[in-house]
Amino acid sequence: MITPWEVEGVVDYRRLIEDFGLSDFSELRNSIPNAHKLMRRGVIFAHRDYERILEAMKRKETFAVMSGFMPSGEIHFGHKMTMDEIVWHQKMGAKAFVAIADMEAHLVRGITWDKTKEIGMKYVKSIIALGLEKNATIYFQSRNNLVKDLAYELSSKVNFNEMKSIYGFAGDTSVSKAIVSLIQSADILHPQLEEFGGPKAVVVPVGADQDPHLRLTRDLASRMNLFSIEKIEKGVRVRCKKNDLLEKVARLGFETKKFSGHVDVFGSEEEIEREVRKLEVELGGYAFIPPSSTYHRFTTGLMGGKMSSSKPESYISLFEKPEIAVKKLRSAFTGGRATVEEQRKFGGIPENCVVFEFYSFHLVEDDKELERIREDCRSGKILCGECKKYAEGLLLEFLKEYKEKVDEAESKLGDYEIIG
Ligand code: TRP
Ligand code: SF4
Repeated sequence: MITPWEVEGVVDYRRLIEDFGLSDFSELRNSIPNAHKLMRRGVIFAHRDYERILEAMKRKETFAVMSGFMPSGEIHFGHKMTMDEIVWHQKMGAKAFVAIADMEAHLVRGITWDKTKEIGMKYVKSIIALGLEKNATIYFQSRNNLVKDLAYELSSKVNFNEMKSIYGFAGDTSVSKAIVSLIQSADILHPQLEEFGGPKAVVVPVGADQDPHLRLTRDLASRMNLFSIEKIEKGVRVRCKKNDLLEKVARLGFETKKFSGHVDVFGSEEEIEREVRKLEVELGGYAFIPPSSTYHRFTTGLMGGKMSSSKPESYISLFEKPEIAVKKLRSAFTGGRATVEEQRKFGGIPENCVVFEFYSFHLVEDDKELERIREDCRSGKILCGECKKYAEGLLLEFLKEYKEKVDEAESKLGDYEIIG
């Protein structure tokens, strides 16, 4: 069972792709220039419409990356993944948008506004410490009128039956969940507003639990638009409720065939889409492009099973004191064997090992080094104690450097656009 508010049971990623109708990320991996380690290693396992982002990168067109963080507790390595993905896309040319979801933390988790502000600023400093550059808009939802106004507009395009089927809402579900969902849709769509230069490809890196929000947002995007576009043979079909506007589409200069309620336009799909979108913007419409998304795996809890922010022993915070971090890592669940003899003989199982996951997701940049660790584990050349010791070193080094960078970020805050 996976919703934005609940992840239960063991996650079968194959099934998730099928059930949610996602695309397999591994098929794109080889066409990505300088792919991020989370991409290379299959940690990012699925996507929607990521081809659009690759196209934009390749052609050096304007595109954006946007994601958000709920300031409700400790910042851990799961959050770091999303932050790294935002930073990577920014390096690849995206304009970055970072939402601090204080409205969500307040409404759904009951965190006071003072606290959301305090925790939220920690997130802001963290992402700057992890490399976010100045070409970014960082904002607290509650302070962003563009986002709030857009959420208000979006509300007229969705009803409770849809909310029910997307999120599993029932009669006793708090209306606040509907509100924060619309705010999140507005987070995702607002980089395409006129204020930011209009329609553009936007990628939203998230954990797979957030996909319901993306499904809703993609639907809302097309419902907000004046024209809807679908592919047909040799061109596209443009639908619009207003006949006089369809007339204008018919006069864009392509070969067309007019029907009641739609126009078939023949020619290059891409060129037609671009012109129709331009027309919509001239007419005062949104012309939203459905957002793309990438999905990373859930981080495993240190003791196996789920990682949960309500169980401090299940994760290591990015602000963890070194001695606590070491203690937690030492007691982590591994893929080692019951006895030293067995491990020497059969080797460990890195795929079942939380420590190996730490190497792969977070601590080891170089693929060759990661493969060496995998092989040493499998062959029984190293034992878990020794291996953990090595991980410990990398972890402490990371935490130390991170702390320094966070302190540095504090003094750089003034250089960033922060709406909060
Ligand atoms: N709901 C997200 C979470 O719980 C946070 C979030 C808010 C978000 N706005 C967003 C994520 C926009 C992606 C895009 O983590
Ligand atoms: Fe995990 Fe290392 Fe033990 Fe292998 S040797 S199971 S990677 S801790």
